[in-house]
Amino acid sequence: MSADLVVKNLHVRIEDQEILKGLNLEINKGEIHAIMGPNGSGKSTLANTLMGHPAYEVTEGEIWLNGQNVVELSPDERARLGLFLAFQYPSSIPGVSVANFLRTAVSARREGPKTGSNGDSKGRGMSMREFRNELKEKMALLKMDFGFAQRYVNEGFSGGEKKRMEILQMAMLEPEIAILDETDSGLDIDALRIVSEGVNELMNPNMGVLVITHYQRILNYIQPQHVHILVAGRIVLSGGPELALELEERGYDWVRETEGS
Ligand SMILES: Nc1ncnc2c1ncn2[C@@H]1O[C@H](COP(=O)(O)OP(=O)(O)OP(=O)(O)O)[C@@H](O)[C@H]1O
Ligand SMILES: [Mg+2]
Repeated sequence: MSADLVVKNLHVRIEDQEILKGLNLEINKGEIHAIMGPNGSGKSTLANTLMGHPAYEVTEGEIWLNGQNVVELSPDERARLGLFLAFQYPSSIPGVSVANFLRTAVSARREGPKTGSNGDSKGRGMSMREFRNELKEKMALLKMDFGFAQRYVNEGFSGGEKKRMEILQMAMLEPEIAILDETDSGLDIDALRIVSEGVNELMNPNMGVLVITHYQRILNYIQPQHVHILVAGRIVLSGGPELALELEERGYDWVRETEGS
């Protein structure tokens, strides 16, 4: 049996520069993986490519989600299949309230894939009241004031509020594979704890999580079973949680030397 998310020999180009150079990764639902790596090594490129961002050209390799090759699918189709990305730099959407935005996203997700539905669609029926109740519950989990639901998405949100907004989306969308790109950056100590506890609370056997981070600290809260180190477009080392601690202590030169790269 192959893993729920399989990334095989992925090569990605932006403009005329190759950023990912043969990346392999397998994530199963129920697992937490972390990717660490220096600035510019390609972590966000991986996240954006998995989600199907059009600026990132897959020149070679495969991405399989639940046994389906998704390389040719649009971001929207991938989201419907259960892929989710919490952005490193979330954008604001002036004029669209958090509540409306989430309601639209949640209905699309629950409706399932547009084409080739395999019959496991959750069905669209969700009343306004059910939606509000669920939103209230998830916002309480993330200690967000319910007043946020009426604000425009990320408009004037502080750095930490934007990151909570990303996790709120994840909470509402119930993805199968969630990628968190530096969700810890910009969070104060209390917010880091609240967001991490939120993720842990949402963790379940039907969801796999990929945490991209620079700092070991978040991994004290969201504990990964697997840690991978990405350097210059390749995963050069994989191990258990101890790898993150070792990295914090010894920096990336040690990995580069170990790998002779
Ligand atoms: N849309 C883009 N247009 C041009 N260059 C890009 C684009 N996205 C990424 N790059 C380049 O690709 C390389 C990898 O960037 P990426 O954002 O994936 O790194 P990262 O590992 O996420 O870094 P950080 O830790 O700073 O977030 C960088 O040299 C970056 O400038
Ligand atoms: Mg990045």
